[in-house]
Amino acid sequence: MQKVETQSEVAPHGGPPARVRVFSGIQPTGVIHIGNYVGAIRQWAELQRDYESYFCIVDLHAITVPYEPAEFPQRVLDAAAANVAAGIDPKQSVLFVQSHVPEHSELMWLLNIITPVGQLERMTQFKDKARRSKVGVMAGLLNYPVLMAADVLLYKASLVPVGDDQVQHVELMRDIAERFNKQFGETFPLPGVRLTKGARIMAFNDPNVKMSKSIDGSYVALVERSETIRKKVRAAVTDPGPPKKGSKLDDATPGVANLFTLLEVFAPARYPEFVAAYEAGTVRYSEMKQVLADAMVETFAPMRKRYEELMQRPDDIRDILADGAKRARPVAQRTIEEARHRMGLR
Ligand code: TYM
Repeated sequence: MQKVETQSEVAPHGGPPARVRVFSGIQPTGVIHIGNYVGAIRQWAELQRDYESYFCIVDLHAITVPYEPAEFPQRVLDAAAANVAAGIDPKQSVLFVQSHVPEHSELMWLLNIITPVGQLERMTQFKDKARRSKVGVMAGLLNYPVLMAADVLLYKASLVPVGDDQVQHVELMRDIAERFNKQFGETFPLPGVRLTKGARIMAFNDPNVKMSKSIDGSYVALVERSETIRKKVRAAVTDPGPPKKGSKLDDATPGVANLFTLLEVFAPARYPEFVAAYEAGTVRYSEMKQVLADAMVETFAPMRKRYEELMQRPDDIRDILADGAKRARPVAQRTIEEARHRMGLR
């Protein structure tokens, strides 16, 4: 898979280039797991300090698969609280709900006009979801990536921090932006992906597939209890014993590689000694899991506490989201005006 990486580093000195905007989204589909955190939210929290950042709870995307309407508002609140607990500062960033800014849907329609169906049918995630669907394939599922393009282009964002599974969607939004600019005049900057270490965290119970909320036993939730985190890390699939002396980490089996990725993220100070032990053939996975579990508990226990506190104050979360929509809307309206004008809709 080709990666479209425009900027892989935050410009630490002299600040970021003027008006660089960041946009990313997360579905309110129940569980937010450590894959979401490592691949996405962790880098959002870092980027928000230097860039004008928009983080969106994408409710319109989440309803493209079967869901329970009565439970849905709670899921949206839950996702918002988890993001705040995990470090998204609603003052620094604009944190909002997609459907609260109706311009997302309008721009999606305008972009539909220039998006070839064939390209949508080739999207890996579409093919996966279509194959697994028990209710047939709805147009909303096919058009899912067009709505993603609308999300990003509405804010003229040029940086999209996501996990590895969203790269193809960002490539598509670049194509759509390019086509729009060619056909109707220069309007949108071309968005680029920003990937981080751990852009693809694998399932704990089957390291050949991505950690995912749709696979039970594959994930550790962001707000998991400390004891459960420890239990799940202990149970993660690795190898029966250490590798041969002189082995290289690049050749590690997927479960072991996944553990090392997580160790580098959560316990960077301990990482080198375990790499050395791996190469020497003396590594003990049980010990490595213990170190990793301790580090994960240290990261996630305070987040869980913040999350639980926030969930006691649902009105505060609603206020945060209302404020986010209020700040997002004028930007969205300006872009929609411009896009309509360019397309001759006056
Ligand atoms: P969603 O809700 O599936 O996931 C949110 C973010 O988490 C990342 N992620 C992972 N990263 C590493 N390892 C994993 N196992 C893992 N699982 C998930 C995802 O890559 C994502 O960055 N379509 C998007 C939401 C979206 C969006 C957008 C993203 C809607 N509009 C515009 C960027 C820009 C999605 O379903 O993410």
